[in-house]
Amino acid sequence: MILLFGFGGVGRTYAELLYEKTDIRIVAVFDSGGGVGKKDGFTPHEIKQLLKTPRGNVSRAGVGKNISLDEALEISQVVVDVSPPNYETGEPSLTLYKKAQTRGLAVVTANKAPLALAFQEVARKRLYYKATVMAGTPLIDLLKGLPPQRVLRIRGILNGSTNYILTRVYKDGMPFEKAVEEAREMGILEPDPRLDLEGIDPAAKIVIIGNTLGIRLTLRDVVRKPLTLLGPVTRYLAILDSIEQKALVEPARLDIDDPLHVDYTMNAVEITTETNTILIKGKGAGRKETAYSLINDTVKALNN
Ligand code: HSE
Repeated sequence: MILLFGFGGVGRTYAELLYEKTDIRIVAVFDSGGGVGKKDGFTPHEIKQLLKTPRGNVSRAGVGKNISLDEALEISQVVVDVSPPNYETGEPSLTLYKKAQTRGLAVVTANKAPLALAFQEVARKRLYYKATVMAGTPLIDLLKGLPPQRVLRIRGILNGSTNYILTRVYKDGMPFEKAVEEAREMGILEPDPRLDLEGIDPAAKIVIIGNTLGIRLTLRDVVRKPLTLLGPVTRYLAILDSIEQKALVEPARLDIDDPLHVDYTMNAVEITTETNTILIKGKGAGRKETAYSLINDTVKALNN
């Protein structure tokens, strides 16, 4: 029984795939205009009706009944947060997580902001956040499998949209503005593109990675330089030094044979541990990729 908080591109894809691939049912959906609920779960037909509803209008879709968040929490087991990030306060998600956790509900999230600002406050046992980093590529699961092996350093390309833009510019010769427009049309840029272009999104991800490894960072601790075109092959890097407990986001020129040299929406992360160097590559952005990751976490949340 799912409370879906957010009904934009990822939220809609999640609802569609959840109904296609599982028997799990959504009992409440919220968007910026309000929420609707149905105690026994929406039928596939009702979900289809909601999917046809314009953004911000679920409460006027004529499906289920209009309900408050508190009422929705009463009939849910798992809160799935796909609302846009608010990097000022983390709200309204932070308050929602705390309410949900107090009632014993699990939280599954693709929203980086609450974790980047207050990871330690919300990282209880039943918080599932794999979709916040590398979308459908399970880096967080991999990191959780490493202890007691110590991670010394992480170096990665963690932002799919800027990697796409940089590839279009340096590989395909496209003007920067046009590449940004394409990334927006593909739905991989944040609703506020400055979050990608000024490095707040990769900074949030490196904070989430750091906290997963037990390093108590917040967004304010990350040294961040905005994206600039330094020449071929510029890539936007996020770096965590686990020994010094320092994090950095900066544009840099990569050697052509650098293992982090990936193109388009691909992400790549190099994990240097005390015994090993691990490289993980995969798509780091995309509605379907993120939705699948959320569904994997939803199933885990329901089974725990
Ligand atoms: N805007 C993000 C990116 C989306 O470009 O990586 C996925 O987190």
